[in-house]
Amino acid sequence: MSLFKPALILALALPLAFAGCNKPETNTSKVENVKAKRIVKDDKFTYANYDQVQITHLDLNLNVDFDRRILSGVATLDFDKPDIEARKIILDTKDLTVTAVEVSDTIGQIWTPVEYAMGKDNEVLGQSLTIPITSDATKVKISYFTSPEAEGLQWLAPAQTAGKEKPYLFSQAQAINARTIAPVQDTPAVRMTYSATLTVPEGLRPLMSASQGDLIDGKYQFDMPQPIPSYLIAIAVGDIKFRAINDHIGVYAEEYILDAAAEEFEETPLMEEANTKLYGPYRWGRYDLIVLPPSFPFGGMENPRLSFMTPTLIAGDKSLTNVVAHELAHSWSGNLVTNASWRDAWLNEGFTSYVENRVMEALYGERRAVMEQKLALQDLKRDVAGAKDKRLTQLKLPKDLNHPDDAFTQVAYVKGQFFLMFLEERFGRDAFDPFLKAWFNDHAFQSVTTEDFIAYLHANLHADNPDALTKEELNAWVYEPGIPDTAANPQSDAFDSVAELGMRFSNEEISASDIETKDWSTHEWLHFLGTLPEGLTQRQYKELDDTFNLTGTQNAETAFAWYMQTIKGRYDAALPEIDNFLMSVGRGKFIYRLYGALKENKQADFAEQVYARARQGYHPIAQRRIDAILK
Ligand code: BES
Ligand code: ZN
Repeated sequence: MSLFKPALILALALPLAFAGCNKPETNTSKVENVKAKRIVKDDKFTYANYDQVQITHLDLNLNVDFDRRILSGVATLDFDKPDIEARKIILDTKDLTVTAVEVSDTIGQIWTPVEYAMGKDNEVLGQSLTIPITSDATKVKISYFTSPEAEGLQWLAPAQTAGKEKPYLFSQAQAINARTIAPVQDTPAVRMTYSATLTVPEGLRPLMSASQGDLIDGKYQFDMPQPIPSYLIAIAVGDIKFRAINDHIGVYAEEYILDAAAEEFEETPLMEEANTKLYGPYRWGRYDLIVLPPSFPFGGMENPRLSFMTPTLIAGDKSLTNVVAHELAHSWSGNLVTNASWRDAWLNEGFTSYVENRVMEALYGERRAVMEQKLALQDLKRDVAGAKDKRLTQLKLPKDLNHPDDAFTQVAYVKGQFFLMFLEERFGRDAFDPFLKAWFNDHAFQSVTTEDFIAYLHANLHADNPDALTKEELNAWVYEPGIPDTAANPQSDAFDSVAELGMRFSNEEISASDIETKDWSTHEWLHFLGTLPEGLTQRQYKELDDTFNLTGTQNAETAFAWYMQTIKGRYDAALPEIDNFLMSVGRGKFIYRLYGALKENKQADFAEQVYARARQGYHPIAQRRIDAILK
């Protein structure tokens, strides 16, 4: 294993002047008409009156100001009124300063300033922005600027980048941070097309989740002609270079990691092919990936046409590329067919985890796919066992969900995935694959609920084969807590022998050097470390460490799995490298649990001491989460 080492990579980075990215723009995507329809308001995380008025297009004209760390400019919103009586439009904002609002006439030519009202600030939801509209108005125009503390934006100083010369900005709008970037109806129930004009300092390249900007009169123009929910609006600005993988897939990254990323992700075209074969054409034109700075708080984010990725995936051996399969799969499950509220998050993440695994199986075979299922199931069991509120282990989440963050546990991902595996098993692949393909097609560019899916399942699969499953079985999966006993139990010989070696080692039947690891992939390592019995002696931890050089290992996943064990077992020799890891990686999946485990295992002082140094480099989303963990 010779893998990701931020410090090392940072040191190797060559400062390079900005060079324009030229790459073909195959625009196979067509403009989709956005038609507002009457929907019942069922998303408690928005102020928007989207049952009455719906945004159909958003145009942003923004200046990216790195000195003040703000976006400032004008958002123009086109809307439709499913309720013709509606006389106001309510938008979501958070930490936005609104300076003026104007409303247009029918043809959008005459603009009239109006008196708008900002609602009371709420810690989760932010502030509503209520704009009065006349009966014939079709657009509103809002002048505003963001806050340097906007949770959806991370502003990096040049010193925090690999190149060290230019600053960097990137956004993260999911779940409800689009409202910290622009005034919108910040609910996945509403879809809109968008366009943007960005002014950025010279030498920096802006990118968005859209057709990649033409430079016109010193400004970059972007266009997203397909209707998307607000959480898929995305922006990145930095000293970013491009490398093509094929004619419509490529990688953006800072120079230091560009070649490595293009190599790591070179099988993306095969993933797209496998996905297309199963579920129909890729509908978004280009598919590019951007490798962000290490503080990106997720493994990946499915921003349309441009997935955002953590550099911790660049392991050197393609062992972590299931995250690419995952973000790409969202182009069908999530971006094309979207959960209408965060209570239905499993429709995005569970479907995507299922599709991801099918693609991994198509490319790399059943052995790897099953290993990934088994690792995922372990994580699910851990989350289910640790759930404080059992209702959070239902696929359909309860009405009183506190924060959308609470929807993104392994339940949405893995229980959702295993539910679809269960359906596949009961109806057979020959029926289930075309069924899923039709589900994506029939609901393309729509936002849907769990109940929509269940109804569609009954009408299109269950009706033809009523004995395949019972109502009770279905209920257990969707509306009841825990893991149903109809869940698959993936079997992997490779993992069985790995786990047994771990057991024999812990029982002192064998020593570390008896464990033959030469042919292990990252997956075997993760299973070995994940199932290692707790309470090894200090001598045993040291023996493992000395034999396999685990502390400081370059694969972020392996390092994380090992550090979790060493924290539980108080093998303190790993602490300096844990410190190093926490200082150089901002991916939430790793750092939340590491800080949590340190605190639980009487290392709160150490955790706080590291966090005091690391915090300012973390993304605002991560800061909020870790503040809560350590408080
Ligand atoms: N959409 C999620 C990331 C996300 C979830 C952002 C919730 C904001 C709120 C993305 O598709 C995802 O699931 N990423 C995973 C990778 C995946 C392979 C499980 C991650 O970041 O680890
Ligand atoms: Zn996802």
